Amino acid sequence: MQENLIKIKNDFLSKVEKIQNAEELNSVRVEFLGKNGVLTDAMKLIKTLPNEEKKQYGQDVNVVKNLLEEEVSKKEKFLEEKKLNEEINNAKIVDLTTPNSQEIGSLHPVTITEHKLIEIFQSMGFAVEDGNEIETEFNNFEAVNVPKNHPARDMQDTYYLDNGQVLKTHTSARQNYIMKKYGAPLKVVFPGRCFRNEELDAGHENTFFQCEGMMIDKNINVSNLIYFMKTMLSSVFGKEVKVRLRPGFFPFVEPGFELDCSCPYCEGKGCSVCKQGGWIELCPCGMIHEKVLEMGGIDPNVYQGFAFGLGLSRLAMMNYNINDIRILNSGNLKELSQTKIN
Ligand code: PHE
Repeated sequence: MQENLIKIKNDFLSKVEKIQNAEELNSVRVEFLGKNGVLTDAMKLIKTLPNEEKKQYGQDVNVVKNLLEEEVSKKEKFLEEKKLNEEINNAKIVDLTTPNSQEIGSLHPVTITEHKLIEIFQSMGFAVEDGNEIETEFNNFEAVNVPKNHPARDMQDTYYLDNGQVLKTHTSARQNYIMKKYGAPLKVVFPGRCFRNEELDAGHENTFFQCEGMMIDKNINVSNLIYFMKTMLSSVFGKEVKVRLRPGFFPFVEPGFELDCSCPYCEGKGCSVCKQGGWIELCPCGMIHEKVLEMGGIDPNVYQGFAFGLGLSRLAMMNYNINDIRILNSGNLKELSQTKIN
C-alpha cells in the first residue's frame, strides 16, 4: 500500500478514537470522505499514476475507503448508544398519574388553623390531646349527661355503627377520658373531627372539626371562662375582640352559653362575614355540669371548671374567606391550597 494511503488511514484512526459526539464524528467524516476530503483527493491522484500502478492503487484506495466508512458507522452506533444510556441515567422518575406532580403541596386551612389554636392554648398552659373518631355511646352521650332515650340526643343526629358505637358527634366525647386521665386540676384542649347526619348545604357538613377545651381547678367561675375566651379569640384574630354571652342549652354545662365575639373584620359595624349583625357565633361553652365532673372522677364540691367547643371548621372558613363548608372536604385545590392566614 502506498505511503500516503497508510498515513490517511492512521490519521483517520487516531482522530476517530478521540471523538466524543456526533458533531465531531461528522466533521472527521467530511474531512476524510467528503467531496473535498483527504481520501477523495487521494482517489483523484489515480489519474496521474502510470498505467501499471493504477490497478493496485485503485484497489488500495477502495480498501481504505471501506475501512473508513465501516469505522464511521461503528462509531456512530457507539455514540447513539452512549447518548441513550446517558438519557436513561439522568431521567427523573415522575409519577405521571399525579396532577401537577412538580407542585409543592400546602397544609389544609383547617390544619393551619388548628396548629395556630394549639400554639395559643399551649402558650396559656394547656395540654393538647387527640381523640377517637369512633367512640362508645357512653363517652359520646352518657358521660356528658345525655342519658339513653333523653330528648337531648335529638340535638345531634348521630351515625350509629352496627356494634353500637358511634362516629363521635362532638369533641365533648373525650371529656370523660381526659378527666380520668389527668384528674383535677387540668387545662386541656382536644381538637378533632366530628360527624353528624346533617342535610348538606353551604353551612352544614356531615364531617366537620371542633376544638374543645376544659379548665378545671378550685374557684373557677364564669369570669375565668370569659377571660380565656376573650384572650384566645383576640390572639386568633390578631386584634382585641369583645365577647358576649347568651344563654345556650347543652346538658353537660350549667349554666350554658353561646359565646359571640365582635366581628374582627368590620370591628362590629356589620359586614358579610357577620351577616351585618356585628357579632359572630363561634363558641358554645359553659361551666361543666356537676354530674359530668362526678362521672369523670372529680369532686364537684372541691373543683369547678369550664368547657367550650370552638367551631374549628367555621374558624378556618373565616380565616380563609371560604364561603361553603363543603369545600373543606372537597378536592378543590384552588380554594384549599391557600397558605396565607388573615
Ligand atoms: N359539644 C357541643 C356541641 O358540639 C359544644 C359544647 C362544648 C358546648 C363544650 C358546651 C361546652 O354542640
